[in-house]
Amino acid sequence: VEAFLAPKPLRGKKLLITAGPTFEPIDPVRGITNHSSGKMGFAIARAAHEAGAEVTLVAGPVHLATPRGVQRIDVQSAQQMYDAVLPLAAYQHAFIASAAVADWRPSQPHEHKLKKAEGGATAPTLAMTDNPDILAAVARLPKPPYCVGFAAESEKLAEHAEAKRRRKGIPLIVANLGPATFGRDDNALLLIDEHGQRELPRADKLTLARELISELSKRL
Ligand code: CTP
Ligand code: CA
Repeated sequence: VEAFLAPKPLRGKKLLITAGPTFEPIDPVRGITNHSSGKMGFAIARAAHEAGAEVTLVAGPVHLATPRGVQRIDVQSAQQMYDAVLPLAAYQHAFIASAAVADWRPSQPHEHKLKKAEGGATAPTLAMTDNPDILAAVARLPKPPYCVGFAAESEKLAEHAEAKRRRKGIPLIVANLGPATFGRDDNALLLIDEHGQRELPRADKLTLARELISELSKRL
């Protein structure tokens, strides 16, 4: 009922959202991932749909139901997330990067399961390669959508987040203290743009998502 009666400030706007972790294969049965639950990104997708937006959600491996009315694309690796996002990004009004994208991947995933050597301990060494920075790539498009980044920092929250905002060339960054927030149902956010900071005090993730969407609609 709440959602039905809500105003629709994003009617006619297209929003692309990334959410969740990525999974970088080592071999057919193993990989590297992180503890992102995807809850914040899924809540943002729900809030954006409630606000009238046409929402595409590119999700890493998570165990969450697709919010009603949202178009979902499932991916595993950072490269797959990049390949799903980039062709769509130029047609969006806004891009919200909430995914916890792996910064590196094993350079050459093994075709077959790695086996322990006969007689014991020979731990393999993994050669790693940089993953593409999805948010920075979208922000560098000739006519980028309004880009919103996330920054989970364990210290100097505002300072590190503002440095990240400038480095990626994006108008708005949402900072939170990580990794304490991963998998929790609540969070507290700090919004930073060129004009300064605004704190969204601790609340459940759907409440915060609705506040973030309301802040975003003022900027579109
Ligand atoms: N991001 C992305 N693609 C990547 C890495 C990050 O799109 N390969 C996005 C995240 O979704 C987030 C923002 O960039 O919105 C910041 O991610 P974060 O991991 O905090 O920043 P990094 O630039 O990767 O720096 P570091 O991990 O060293 O703090
Ligand atoms: Ca990172």
